[in-house]
Amino acid sequence: MSLTKPVQSGQHLIRGRVLSFTREPQDISDTTSYQYYEDGAVLMEGGLIKAVGDYSVVASETSPDTGITDHRPHLILPGFIDTHIHFPQGQVVASYAAELLDWLNDYTFIEEQKYADEQFGEHIAERFIDELLRHGTTTVAAYGSVHPQSVDAFFRASEKRNMRNIAGKVMMDRNAPSALCDTAQSGYDDTKALIARWHGKGRLDYAISPRFAITSTPAQLEASQALVREYPDCYVQTHLSENHAEIEFTCSLYPQAPDYTGIYEHYGLLGRKTLLGHAIHLSEREVTVLAETGSVAVFCPTSNLFLGSGLFDRDGLRAAGVRIGVATDIGGGTSWSMLRTLDEGYKVLQLRGQRLNPLSSFYMMTLGNARALSMEDKIGTVEAGTEADLVVLNSRATAAMRLRMDAGSNLAQELFLLQTLGDDRAIVETYIAGKACKPA
Ligand code: GUN
Ligand code: ZN
Repeated sequence: MSLTKPVQSGQHLIRGRVLSFTREPQDISDTTSYQYYEDGAVLMEGGLIKAVGDYSVVASETSPDTGITDHRPHLILPGFIDTHIHFPQGQVVASYAAELLDWLNDYTFIEEQKYADEQFGEHIAERFIDELLRHGTTTVAAYGSVHPQSVDAFFRASEKRNMRNIAGKVMMDRNAPSALCDTAQSGYDDTKALIARWHGKGRLDYAISPRFAITSTPAQLEASQALVREYPDCYVQTHLSENHAEIEFTCSLYPQAPDYTGIYEHYGLLGRKTLLGHAIHLSEREVTVLAETGSVAVFCPTSNLFLGSGLFDRDGLRAAGVRIGVATDIGGGTSWSMLRTLDEGYKVLQLRGQRLNPLSSFYMMTLGNARALSMEDKIGTVEAGTEADLVVLNSRATAAMRLRMDAGSNLAQELFLLQTLGDDRAIVETYIAGKACKPA
């Protein structure tokens, strides 16, 4: 990168190869699913994208004191979006456990108790956001711990960086250490207070977050339902059908429900703003309910592999009309990088006999996840009038990448290489609302 002209006025132009999807690619040769400018430019002002196009055209619209950053030959894309991540689990990553319920009990439910300490949460929130930005992620849907102060810490840090983020305190009132349990009433009250403090404040939104049916009594799911009715524009996030032992335990706790999905359905927790982590082992009835309610099934490939949970059925869900997101699921997930996440997603789908073409991967990390969050009018594309959250990618960031790139590539091959060999080293810069903010 070279800074040819410092940013003085409110305007900042960045130059590079600009790529932005306009719809879901059908296959690897679907070149009409995106806009691509080989010598492109993005003009940013007041946190928004003011213009995008060929450099020569966009440059002619700038004022004389516009700052210019030349990112050639790198790619400029919308910032990556992560639709399922746990704020208090940055220090749980790489914990040696057999499977989900052991991992929760032996590590995660121990670690999350630290977040009763607000100062600890404040400290980790800064490091957590640094890590997102180092990996090119500009928006997340995050779970806090049960402590409302963990969500305050996360939102305060997000606000400081001007990030568009979603978060919520987990509600959990059983089957966890008492230090991590709220009650149906206190979970409701704390959530309400957090919504009042944060939902719709600047770039922040709240997600009502009953952790999963195992850790919520029927009374707590009823309280969650009341919150959804009172705040229909809030998100809902929870976990669904991640592994067999979890499903069996869940169904034993809710014997009246026809299946796991039926529990959330009964309590009115499904809908277009509902994000369901994992959603791996589903019956035909459950898939139909997800499709009919417009709920989002979130594919968490590194986590599903790490915890041995199972192989997400993207094609089955898609054929039924279920909306799909993709996410790291830190800290069941093993990488903060959406590039690494989609690389593992590719392999999961290979094992299912399904294909994930590189255009679709980059669509999913950007516009696809923006659509999963119903935020495609704000983020997920490089379009005039949308928010200037961008990532700059170097396809030659490592010796191995340079070796492979030297063999020649078209755009789709280059994206596949970035996904297969890339990680945080490929992130040259991350822009949040027009401001360069990748930590060193
Ligand atoms: N199910 C309930 N809580 C969690 C969590 O923290 N991580 C994962 N992967 N699954 C869960
Ligand atoms: Zn999770």
